[in-house]
Amino acid sequence: MSIFNERIDRLKTSSVKWELTKDIFGEMDLWPMWVADMDFKPPQAVIDAIKKRVDHGVFGYTFVPPSVSEAISAWLLKRHQWDIQSPWLLYCSGVVQAISTAINAFTNEGDKVLLQSPVYTPFFDMIEKNNRVVVNSPLVLDENRYQIDFAQFEKTLQQGCKLFLLCSPHNPGGRVWTKDELLKIGELCLEYNCLILADEIHSDIVYKQYHHIPIASLSDQLSEKVITLIAPSKTFNLAGLQASAVIIKNKAMRTQFQEQLKRQGVFTLNTFGIIGMEAAYREGENWLDELIDYLQDNKEYTIQYLTEHFPQITCIDSEGTYLLWLDCRGLGLSDKDLRNLLIQKGKLALEPGPKFGHGGEGFVRINIACPMDDLIEGLNRFKNALT
Ligand SMILES: Cc1ncc(COP(=O)(O)O)c(C=O)c1O
Repeated sequence: MSIFNERIDRLKTSSVKWELTKDIFGEMDLWPMWVADMDFKPPQAVIDAIKKRVDHGVFGYTFVPPSVSEAISAWLLKRHQWDIQSPWLLYCSGVVQAISTAINAFTNEGDKVLLQSPVYTPFFDMIEKNNRVVVNSPLVLDENRYQIDFAQFEKTLQQGCKLFLLCSPHNPGGRVWTKDELLKIGELCLEYNCLILADEIHSDIVYKQYHHIPIASLSDQLSEKVITLIAPSKTFNLAGLQASAVIIKNKAMRTQFQEQLKRQGVFTLNTFGIIGMEAAYREGENWLDELIDYLQDNKEYTIQYLTEHFPQITCIDSEGTYLLWLDCRGLGLSDKDLRNLLIQKGKLALEPGPKFGHGGEGFVRINIACPMDDLIEGLNRFKNALT
């Protein structure tokens, strides 16, 4: 029996996913398949390392020791064939914090920042809240797979974008970008002098026949123009520990990022984030392989269930991430009606598509990272809501 079948009660742990549905959806006790965390325990090695640190009992200021950079470098080399050097690494509490820091470090107020919708909502927020201008080159849904319209992408770059926020793999579309796609993105960004901020937080959860390629690993030239963001939070379900890593090869750019961190008063990470991050990258590999197998089964079950009960709904077959993007336009419902049915009749919390910007209308995003029994409960609620 898989360790991931264990159902763990997350109530009374201040879980955003389980205990904030009233604030976000207006109702308590909704079955939560929305925010992107998992209902699984992390690798045992992470729990053991944190327990050991707790037992020490003194929690003064801590720095990120070199052993963390070594663990991350070894992980990137083994899992993604990317050979980085430890000094390229900096740390932030979260990837969203790192996005905001990079926007401030590498652009000025009023500058244009490029993204590709539908995409993770804080991409828009971080650009706008920092008084930069969102420029969108929407993805194109072609035969159930998101594609980049490169002619349009180039035209957008010609408007003078300073920074491109690449979501790789893509949330919510589930694309794991191919080498050719990444090379083309890189070529155009280099041509138009646009830095690339690559959010690769989902890079470790990729299904069997696909392979994530860090865009910075593709050429020396590109590696000088890319800021890469990774974290153990999605991979090992450690979001509450608040630790992420920023990889910048170019020394001048790294200094610029570091100076911005200092301006924000950020100097180090939470003690448990440091401990958990190192243990996860050092010892979490077998756990992750098992997780991916489990998620693959959940994904196949979901697609089969929806195909059987809702031929009008198309599930975009994700190549990575534990998030599935459902095209519900065939139901003929407005987003408001769909949301109300899911919440009021189904008692189910899913992410509404319009949150992800242009192209999200008529879609919902479902998080399948839970024990299979809980997934079935959620899917039954989905069916109850819509029949
Ligand atoms: C693409 C992407 N970036 C960043 C995050 C959040 O990162 P963090 O919690 O480290 O700020 C998420 C979470 O869902 C995400 O999907």
